[in-house]
Amino acid sequence: MSVPTGFPVEPWSVRETALDVDHIAQSESVFALSNGHIGLRGNLDEGEPHGIPGTYLNSFYEARPLPYAERGYGYPESGQTLVNVTNGKLIRLLVDDEPFDVRYGQLLSHERELDLRAGTLVRDVDWVSPVGKRLRVRSTRLVSFTQRAVAAVEYVVEAVDQPVRLIVQSELVANEVVSEQRADPRVAAVLERPLVALERDLSAHGATLLHRTRLSGLQMAAGMDHLLEAPGRVEDETRASDDWARTTVVCTLRPGERLRLVKLLAYGWSSQRSVPALRDQAAAALTGARYSGFEGLLAEQRAYLDDFWDAADVQVEGDPEIQQAVRFGLFHVLQAGARAEGRCIPAKGLTGPGYDGHTFWDTEALVLPVLTYVHPEAAADALRWRHAILDRARERASSLGLAGATMPWRTIRGEECSGYWPAGTAAFHVNADIAAAVERYRVVTGDDQLEVDGGLELLVETARLWMSLGHHTRDGAWHVAGVTGPDEYTAIVNDNVFTNLAAAHNLRTAAAGVLRHPGLGRRLGVDLEEASRWRDAAAAVHLPYDEELRVHQQSAGFTHLPEWDFEGRRDYPLLLHAPYVDLYRRQVAKQADLVMAMYWFGERFSPEDKARNVDYYERRTVRDSSLSACIQAVMTAEVGHLGLAHEYAYEAAMIDLRDLHHNTRDGLHVASLAGAWIAMVAGFGGLRECGEQLSFDPQLPETITRLQFSVRWHGLRLAVDVEHHEVTYTLRDGDDASVTLLHAGEEVEVTPAAPVTRALEKRLPQLPRPVQPPGREPARRR
Ligand code: BGC
Repeated sequence: MSVPTGFPVEPWSVRETALDVDHIAQSESVFALSNGHIGLRGNLDEGEPHGIPGTYLNSFYEARPLPYAERGYGYPESGQTLVNVTNGKLIRLLVDDEPFDVRYGQLLSHERELDLRAGTLVRDVDWVSPVGKRLRVRSTRLVSFTQRAVAAVEYVVEAVDQPVRLIVQSELVANEVVSEQRADPRVAAVLERPLVALERDLSAHGATLLHRTRLSGLQMAAGMDHLLEAPGRVEDETRASDDWARTTVVCTLRPGERLRLVKLLAYGWSSQRSVPALRDQAAAALTGARYSGFEGLLAEQRAYLDDFWDAADVQVEGDPEIQQAVRFGLFHVLQAGARAEGRCIPAKGLTGPGYDGHTFWDTEALVLPVLTYVHPEAAADALRWRHAILDRARERASSLGLAGATMPWRTIRGEECSGYWPAGTAAFHVNADIAAAVERYRVVTGDDQLEVDGGLELLVETARLWMSLGHHTRDGAWHVAGVTGPDEYTAIVNDNVFTNLAAAHNLRTAAAGVLRHPGLGRRLGVDLEEASRWRDAAAAVHLPYDEELRVHQQSAGFTHLPEWDFEGRRDYPLLLHAPYVDLYRRQVAKQADLVMAMYWFGERFSPEDKARNVDYYERRTVRDSSLSACIQAVMTAEVGHLGLAHEYAYEAAMIDLRDLHHNTRDGLHVASLAGAWIAMVAGFGGLRECGEQLSFDPQLPETITRLQFSVRWHGLRLAVDVEHHEVTYTLRDGDDASVTLLHAGEEVEVTPAAPVTRALEKRLPQLPRPVQPPGREPARRR
């Protein structure tokens, strides 16, 4: 596999200095723009060449049958796949009848820049047509954070050395042909012409197309409008058919003259609203965008991002590559969640079709922990979506003979879409991950409202699930049998430590929530007895431990399984080269599992156990999941392997900029991008929630000389500035406010007038640096 050309290291942007057609699908993902509602892959304006054309609307999916070779009771019947909707970013250009296509003529320069502060993708092209006419094209694309239904492209063409006649065709195209099906289980199912035309509507300088899906019954509208500026005579006309609409602009330019076209786009969809209502919604969005103008949209975008960065930025001195990547990651995390508003945050955001556009535990386990600290409104929205699908989760639980709610392992609209039970539905921990996210939101923001608005119901229904899954043995211990933990190479196990601890935490927080809101608790049917059963189970939770090796067993018996032959079988990812029957029966972990348990529930492990556990599982974890490196960064840092932690942080951060899993083409790894923040802030900043308290224990690796970040705690921004020998905590808001936090276990009070500085002592590891399975060392820094 060839290696993609790198992006130059710059603090606030990701730039491609020459078009790399061989890796165009990767750059389409990297350059994707989204606000959580609309997603546009970074396809070239003229549409070709492309890797994967992609335009997405959050939760706009098509249903498809899930065929099974052998059926079983309770298998989901129907899957959901994100639809590539009407493409509105297409702008084709003809220069004296020659199509502008980078594969023909002479490409003098081609540069694209994702500007993380402006929130735009800017493309600059210098091109000579096959008959020798030189042009400069600059396009600036944005998906608006402030106007949720709006995207826009400013397209400027300049004649350089000769007069030219230009024809610009700005289009909406539905049912684009997408590429072939591949064998990798992580790619999306291909939908054949998923959109059925309903109506088209022409306006003075644009058009709107309305379509519906065949099976899922969703309707959508895509509208475009244009603003034109040219020195001389310019004409435009618009035509439309079922699956396309085209505004054609014609003009002539003398050398040095420019044509400027602003294309405004509006998208909307609904399962309920009528076609006229959707059409009007798109028209209204276009009117709003026209009113702002392109400059107005740019200014709003920047103001929105200025505000975001002010509270979210992470500054890393000593590692410019991580600096760039961590900002790139934060930008995409924001893009994935900012305006999702009651819809899900998929594993790929809206950057590509991978995993069919599904949402997994990735959201609650990695993305929401970041959003909760830097953009809590988006975290609350995502949890409201979980609450909105609770009825479906209750139905699923009841069809499985379980109590409470069973949240889907993967889904778009709430129904379980995993056709593979052992690494799907059996990963019940997703329920506890959601509960943990609800609790974290309350603790970090100090806002009780989410709990009242549905959070408590989530806690209660997920707690009930655990009571029907778990059982007490004669000795009183509480066990959970027959589940799959985070590590998908070990399935249907008993007493997975992560699951057990997460379930216990779920039970305890549900019981505490009911105490805080007794009336609401009663309405949810919780009586004193039920809540006390939850507390008893949580208190008696069993954690399997190997007394001889003095390490925790990821699940009961794990340390007695045969080892994987790492020397002989090292074709990674193993899931594409080895059968699950073999993976399941051996000591090989796809991803952090017990290590994740130590991060989330650190108080349950002694420092000695942590050190030994890290050592043991490092040797058996292959990181075939992108969710792993960041968690390994956090725990290797905690036990003092700071150099190793730095390497894992780098891997998590660079996952897509260096295409480390060779599938960035299908969309970004949003959890790992969030994980870059986690690696920095929880790994090197030592951030944890300790009960209801904010806690830090910072320590930098050698080559990072300074780390600065902010978190929002109870609505106040707290800045943390770490250097090798000291850390300073500064409260940035609230004149009379104060925050009491734990610094390395010591309580300190920070007020805006009195920042607190503490000296740091060097953290030494108890054990030597562990080795990884051969071929699975963390990615090397450049
Ligand atoms: C991982 C899961 C993850 C999923 C989606 C899988 O490879 O094992 O933990 O939820 O990818 O990112």
